[in-house]
Amino acid sequence: MTARILLSGATAALRSAGIATARQDAELLTARVLGTTRLGLSLEPRLTIDAARGNALRALVERRARQEPLQYLLGEAEFAGLTLGVGPGVFVPRPETEALVERALAALADGSRGPSAGGPSAGSPVALDLCTGSGAVACALADRRADLVVWAVEREPAAAAWAHANVARLGLGGRVTVMEGDLFAPLAGQGLAGRCDVIAANPPYLAESTLATLPAEVGEWEPRAALDGGPDGTQVVARILDGAPDWLRPGGTLVVEIGEDQGAWIRARIAGDPRYETGIVHRDFRGCERTLEARRV
Ligand SMILES: C[S@@+](CC[C@H](N)C(=O)[O-])C[C@H]1O[C@@H](n2cnc3c(N)ncnc32)[C@H](O)[C@@H]1O
Repeated sequence: MTARILLSGATAALRSAGIATARQDAELLTARVLGTTRLGLSLEPRLTIDAARGNALRALVERRARQEPLQYLLGEAEFAGLTLGVGPGVFVPRPETEALVERALAALADGSRGPSAGGPSAGSPVALDLCTGSGAVACALADRRADLVVWAVEREPAAAAWAHANVARLGLGGRVTVMEGDLFAPLAGQGLAGRCDVIAANPPYLAESTLATLPAEVGEWEPRAALDGGPDGTQVVARILDGAPDWLRPGGTLVVEIGEDQGAWIRARIAGDPRYETGIVHRDFRGCERTLEARRV
């Protein structure tokens, strides 16, 4: 059978399952099964598919029709110019979070560096990535700043395994260390207290009421621990705000992705905490308040 015929069948199946990006997803899945790209597929529409690959494609289309994230099926997600491995058990990195990386890099470029941490970090700027998931933010920071040492923390073992794998896949093992545990806890004893130049975090920040309204693709497939920010969504963010000043050097910067309804709350929180100098909430490409940037005094 030709790829063109299978592709139109796959597109129709995904469309009738309500997948908004049916054609694009069908192309990506077909290209993946054939070991080519979407461009390769369009340049060679008469490519044929043998029975085994046809069955593999049908299985992927069925999974996608059940709303499983496309990135889980492809086994990869693009983020900040990197290709990261992802799959069940880990949050799929989102384009919005690339702004967190940019803010962290700008703060690193801007801030006159304080005393650097000891151990493997000696002489290098240091970043923390809390709630690292796939390791997306940690890897992007290390990829963009060749002198940067990054410590990444993840509480869920399944997600931490993806972070470890991505650090290895991208050859960043010499500068990115993945630790398993709760926020700052696994960093104790590493000589990092009061010495970090930047702390970045994309924590779970959805309120309980929002969790119930998520599209199936997110709510039924991505890990709840990646989404659930407690009753009003601020539980983990608040703990990060409380803990970060102990780990930042004077003048160091905290950047945190937040829910679009949390801007006023977080500005007030920063304004009321004498350990922070300034707090700015930046908007994302949709115009929603999304990224807190706060400097430690
Ligand atoms: C929204 S995801 C972000 C993942 C990744 N940073 C990204 O932007 O793609 C939040 C991550 O935080 C992890 N997490 C939740 N609570 C945590 C905690 N107390 N300590 C460490 N990690 C936590 C979740 O397991 C999940 O992987």
